[in-house]
Amino acid sequence: MSKMARRVSRFGTTIFTEMTALANQHQAINLGQGFPDFAAPDFLKEAAVQAIRDDVNQYAPGHGRPRLRQAIAAKMAKQYGLTVNPDTEITVTHGATEAIFAAIMGLVNPGDEVILFEPAYDSYVPAVQMAGGIPRYYTLRQPDWAIDPDELAALFSPQTKLILVNTPHNPTGKVFSQAELAHIADLCQQYDVIAMTDEMYEHLVFDGRTHHALAAFPGMKEHIEAKVSRG
Ligand SMILES: Cc1ncc(COP(=O)(O)O)c(C=O)c1O
Repeated sequence: MSKMARRVSRFGTTIFTEMTALANQHQAINLGQGFPDFAAPDFLKEAAVQAIRDDVNQYAPGHGRPRLRQAIAAKMAKQYGLTVNPDTEITVTHGATEAIFAAIMGLVNPGDEVILFEPAYDSYVPAVQMAGGIPRYYTLRQPDWAIDPDELAALFSPQTKLILVNTPHNPTGKVFSQAELAHIADLCQQYDVIAMTDEMYEHLVFDGRTHHALAAFPGMKEHIEAKVSRG
């Protein structure tokens, strides 16, 4: 009998492991995960080398170094006009997966409902299930992955705790429109629901589209608990 805890017993491996194994097996081109085809910028490499030489090897504060948090707050102000307190409203994590997992574990009680747009990034549903939450899916459909306002509204209920919005969206590439985000903002405020946004591709926007941050919509600062971005 498996020694794994019941809450993880339904989980398989990650989509990355599965697709990479298949690509290797069939000698296929692997589009299943990101493989940067460019080097890291020299100034970054130099800074890392310098930090090693300078023995910068003490524990960082749990929520990240102050200079980094201040730089993130300045970016939020410049890019989205958002005033964010670098000491109390920003936490630096080791990648987005950790941030998403920690935020969901910190917000979702067993039995709470979490609205997700499917197809969804691989780690969302396991994180919701680990927290004992119940996923409620809005299925994005081709050709344009547009959101039907009534269909989305029907998923909200007094049991809804969280909605997870990933824009620009992996895997469809959908960039949520201003109108769609305004509708989500209205629903969050109407049902007192927290929005968690995964905006890690905020700078990868093509075809003249514009990325909008849900946190910048009127009244949303109080309803956003986690905005994941990769600077
Ligand atoms: C939408 C989305 N969120 C989160 C992640 C995970 O990011 P990280 O590698 O920083 O944990 C990915 C990685 O592909 C992603 O596509």
